[in-house]
Amino acid sequence: MAFPQTRMRRLRGSASLRGLVRETELRAGQLVLPMFLAESGPAHEPIATMPGVQRLSISAAVAQAREAGELGIGAVMLFGVPAAKDEHGSGAWDDEGVVQLATRALKQALADGPLVITDVCLCEYTDHGHCGVVGGDGSIDNDASIELLARVASSHARAGADLVAPSDMMDGRVGAIRAGLDSEGFAGTPILSYSAKFASAFYGPFREAAGSAPAFGDRRSYQLDPANGREAVREALLDVREGADMVMVKPALAYGDLIRAVKRATRLPVAAYNVSGEYAMVKAAAAAGYLDERATVLEILTSLRRAGADTIVTYHALDAARWLAQERVGG
Ligand code: PBG
Repeated sequence: MAFPQTRMRRLRGSASLRGLVRETELRAGQLVLPMFLAESGPAHEPIATMPGVQRLSISAAVAQAREAGELGIGAVMLFGVPAAKDEHGSGAWDDEGVVQLATRALKQALADGPLVITDVCLCEYTDHGHCGVVGGDGSIDNDASIELLARVASSHARAGADLVAPSDMMDGRVGAIRAGLDSEGFAGTPILSYSAKFASAFYGPFREAAGSAPAFGDRRSYQLDPANGREAVREALLDVREGADMVMVKPALAYGDLIRAVKRATRLPVAAYNVSGEYAMVKAAAAAGYLDERATVLEILTSLRRAGADTIVTYHALDAARWLAQERVGG
């Protein structure tokens, strides 16, 4: 039957009817709040390219994570901004590094707080800003890098990380990290792999925030070509075979097709990373009065859930959780 017997508008006539048939739900518990932990500097340092986001000291991060927990946010994800860098990024596996200290402080202060996920990568810690170590010929040495990444993940687990999330895009890193964790007694620590991470212009503001822009070249020899969808699914399936517990698609907004495809192919929980450039675009347009920030953010996050994301990493997490709480009480 078609029109006039069928009228699609019948079920859109009131808020109650729309609520009754809504297909996709967004909860604060599905959100992950990224945090930048500065080893030195002020307690709160604004990031020019990401209005509303700051580099935090450890005590400021504990306070922000407490607030996130009170709002029901599922997890925080930690990125380190170390005071010193070197060729191999050795600060990344320092048991007294800023992420390790922050992880211990968070787990101690907020036993029932949000989960602590740590980003496992070298780029914030290497003086050249690449996600792996540079070999003799100037290219990124895959097999040397995954040994170091396994050390980083084990160091995070020793500090108490609930999940570790490798974002480097080296081949074989999930397997190396799994073996390292298992041999150190962390067989129960899950790996959230940034499986389908694209070489994207949308990371620009993050690199400013973390001081991790590559000093030479770019990341196209290890991150995915934005033109390639089949290759992204293949990456995710390989991570499953190496032991990933969750997989990620990143960026999120222009990659909804892959959130769906990766979910279908892997059957694992899928996270979408609503990255810094996606955040900055919304903030800039909202500040200019071009769009309504609250409505836009909730629409974006809901659309990522509809595409198939179980979990969403987003710099909007605190605001979104507040808005969701207001909606629940009919605000
Ligand atoms: C690398 C890493 C990056 C992001 C998360 N982990 C940057 C990159 O690959 O250049 C980007 C996150 C964002 O843009 O919000 N460790």
